[in-house]
Amino acid sequence: MKLRCDPHGKGVDTPGPLPPVTHDHPIRAVGRRLVEVDRLDARGVVEVDTAGHGVLAVGVTPDGAPFAVSNLCRHQFAKLGRGRVNADGCLECPWHRADYDVHTGAMRSGPKGRVFGFLPYSAAITVFGRIATLRTFPVEVRDGAIWLS
Ligand code: FES
Repeated sequence: MKLRCDPHGKGVDTPGPLPPVTHDHPIRAVGRRLVEVDRLDARGVVEVDTAGHGVLAVGVTPDGAPFAVSNLCRHQFAKLGRGRVNADGCLECPWHRADYDVHTGAMRSGPKGRVFGFLPYSAAITVFGRIATLRTFPVEVRDGAIWLS
């Protein structure tokens, strides 16, 4: 998947400079089969539309562990499936780069940047993100695809 536009240099695949609070053509799951691993690009995560759980952020960490989590950043509602998996294996929000542990759903570190990265503010969001965790779904890799278990 090639980035069409990356106005903020954050890996956001968006046609304009607006926050990524909308879905961007999520892949449609087929039953419990979410997405073929080959369809993941360097970002390591995609949005997948499921019948039972709505649109999820689905991906694989650098050590090969698949994950599926709810798609909504706890800070300002960016779609996490439009973000990326960082080198630490955390799911990074495409807007202010808060990152999440994909196994627990807890925010690991809060928003970054000149405004939202202000330390007391970012720390408060982190506390909130550790209470209001992302929903996590058990998944497995089978036949080259990520499946809901
Ligand atoms: S919207 Fe996710 S960190 Fe701000």
